[in-house]
Amino acid sequence: MTKLSDTRKVRAYTNIALIKYWGKRDDKLILPTSSSLSLTLDAFYTETAVSFDESLEKDTFYLDDNLQDEAATLKVSRFLNLFREQADLKAPALIKSTNYVPTAAGLASSASGMAALAGAANLASGLNFTPQELSIFARQGSGSASRSVYGGFVEWQKGTSSADSYAVKIDNADWDIGMVVVVVNKNQKELSSREGMKQTVATSPFYAGWIESTAVDLVNIKKAIGQRDFEQVGEITESNGMKIHGTMLGANPPISYWEPDSVLAMQLVRKLRKQGIPCYFTMDAGPNVKVLCRLSDSKEIKTAFLNYFSEEQLIVSGPGSDLKEITF
Ligand code: ADP
Ligand code: DP6
Repeated sequence: MTKLSDTRKVRAYTNIALIKYWGKRDDKLILPTSSSLSLTLDAFYTETAVSFDESLEKDTFYLDDNLQDEAATLKVSRFLNLFREQADLKAPALIKSTNYVPTAAGLASSASGMAALAGAANLASGLNFTPQELSIFARQGSGSASRSVYGGFVEWQKGTSSADSYAVKIDNADWDIGMVVVVVNKNQKELSSREGMKQTVATSPFYAGWIESTAVDLVNIKKAIGQRDFEQVGEITESNGMKIHGTMLGANPPISYWEPDSVLAMQLVRKLRKQGIPCYFTMDAGPNVKVLCRLSDSKEIKTAFLNYFSEEQLIVSGPGSDLKEITF
C-alpha cells in the first residue's frame, strides 16, 4: 500500500497515429484488427498520481481538480483492478490526473490519460513492470495508450494474443519532424472513438478494403521512416488518414467528425504544398487537423495559418519522449 506522502507522479505524452487504429477484434482485451503507427508529441500530455489507501471508502478520481462522476470513475477503477489483481491489493485508490490536452476532443487524451494512469499504478503497486508489459496494460485501458509508453515513432503490433499485442519504438524521431496542431474545436465530441470504430466495423462495406490497404501503408511508412524520407512519410500519412475517414463515411449511420474549418485547414495544407512547403494533414476522431511537417518549417506554416485561425488554435509540437516519472 502507498501512503499519500509516497505518491509519485507520471507523465505520458499523447501520440497521433500516422497509420490509424480503427477497429477491434476483441473488445474486452482491446486487440486491434490491424497494427498502427504513431508519432508521440511533446506539446500534449497527462500527469497522473495514484495512491492505494485503505482509509478510503472507494476509488476517488480527480481530473483537472474536478471530482469525477461514477461512470468516469468506474472506467478508471476497472483499469486499476488489473494492477490490484497482479499485486494482490484490495485498497481503494486516490487518482489525481491533469490533462495538458483537451479531453475527448480528438487530440488523444485517452492515449496519454491511460498511459499515465498505467505508469502511476505501476509505481503505486510496486509491480515494476517493464515498458513492454506497461504497454500491454495501457492497451487494455485504451488501444492508442499502448503507444504512449514510448516517445518517437511507435508501432503497436496487433499481435496474436494479449501477450504479444504491444507497442515498440521504431525510431527516436530525433530528426527534423513535428506537427502543427490546428484546434478547430476543443469541445468534447458526441461520438467516442470506441463507439465510432465499433459502428464502422459492424456496418461499413469499405472496412475490408481499409484493413487490406493499411497493412501496405504500414510496411511502406516504416521503410520511409528508416530512410528519413519525410515526403514519403507525409504522403502515406495523409493517404491513410483520408482512407479511414472514407471508411467511416461508409458506416450506417454515416460517421463524420469534420467541421467546415477542418476542410479549410486541409485546403491550406494543399496550398502550402503547392507553394513548395512540404506538409501533410491527418485527422482522428474529432474535427482537429494535425499538420505533419519539418519542424524547421513549422513557423512558416503557422504564420500562413494565422490568416485564418487564431494564435491559441495553433500549437506547434516536436516529438515527445517516453513515459516518465516526474518530481513534484
Ligand atoms: P480523445 O480523442 O481525447 O482520445 P476519446 O473519446 O477517445 O477522446 O477518449 C476520452 C476518454 O479517455 C475520456 O472519456 C476518459 O475515459 C479517458 N481519459 C481522458 N483523459 C484521462 C485521464 N487523464 N485519466 C484517465 N482517463 C482519461
Ligand atoms: C482515430 O485508442 O481512443 O485516434 O481503444 O476504444 O479506447 P479505444 O480507442 P482509442 O482510438 C483511437 C482512434 C484514433 C486512431 C489512432 O489513434 O490510432
